[in-house]
Amino acid sequence: MKVGFIGGGNMAEAMIGGMLKQGFAAMDIRVSEPNAERRTLLTGRFGIKVEERPAETLAVDVLVLAVKPQILREVLTSLPKPDATTCVLSIAAGVRAGDIARWLNHHRAVVRAMPNTPALVGAGIAGLYALPDVSEEQKARAEAVLKAVGAAVWVADEAQIDAVTAISGSGPAYVFLFIEALEDAGRALGLAPDTARALALQTVYGAAALAIQDGTEPAVLRARVTSKGGTTERGIAALEEHGVRAAVTAAARAAADRARELGDILGAE
Ligand SMILES: NC(=O)c1ccc[n+]([C@@H]2O[C@H](COP(=O)([O-])OP(=O)(O)OC[C@H]3O[C@@H](n4cnc5c(N)ncnc54)[C@H](OP(=O)(O)O)[C@@H]3O)[C@@H](O)[C@H]2O)c1
Repeated sequence: MKVGFIGGGNMAEAMIGGMLKQGFAAMDIRVSEPNAERRTLLTGRFGIKVEERPAETLAVDVLVLAVKPQILREVLTSLPKPDATTCVLSIAAGVRAGDIARWLNHHRAVVRAMPNTPALVGAGIAGLYALPDVSEEQKARAEAVLKAVGAAVWVADEAQIDAVTAISGSGPAYVFLFIEALEDAGRALGLAPDTARALALQTVYGAAALAIQDGTEPAVLRARVTSKGGTTERGIAALEEHGVRAAVTAAARAAADRARELGDILGAE
């Protein structure tokens, strides 16, 4: 399977690194990137073909759109219509699949994905949506590219991509905020800054790893560490009293609303 990237920035670099680790051949990956420094870096690091303007990059099975959302329309309207068999996979936040199809001369094989920053360390999760004309084979190819940097889940309705954006797209920032708060609390309780940070980071990482590997409901795992009359019970009660659940719900609603607004703005022309 040949894969081309329009845009060789951070996300493209992470995905290419993951793909090579998963056994994709370097000769099957091409990138189009106007920035000379980025071209040198990508060629040197991965031994792949990187061109200044898209030519060979377009003759692929999966064409990944990895430029900033604000310039996507301009970039796509200057491209020739892709081959009907080419699956276009957009990772540009907020831009709707129908707008991408329209900007590509009504090329209908478009998959829209919302990845997240843990993809940079191979631990991402992406939500994917395909326009109705995308074949099962094209969907499988798009999924294989994204799975090089983490997990992938499909949604049947594009509006749900706004929910994916609110949960896993923006979610790492919510978790970083929680880590900051846990670390600050550790310092307030008299721990050295390094110690407070190490405890906060490893606790969040370890709890997520346990929940994933064990597969038990998070509420059950929580109950297991919450013995009657113990320290965790007091701590959880304080979190509930301070409205943590309501705060998280409000954060997700606000982010989803903004995702919808951005989709309207970016697809306006
Ligand atoms: N980072 C994330 O975690 C994340 C998560 C979800 C979605 N995304 C999406 O992923 C996309 C890429 O993000 P990123 O963080 O990788 O951005 P980035 O590092 O800025 O990468 C974009 C690259 O595209 C290049 N470029 C500009 N114009 C181009 C053109 N006409 N043809 C080809 N390449 C061109 C840019 O070069 P210059 O720097 O010279 O302009 C830059 O190297 C964005 O749409 C973003 O919404 C990212």
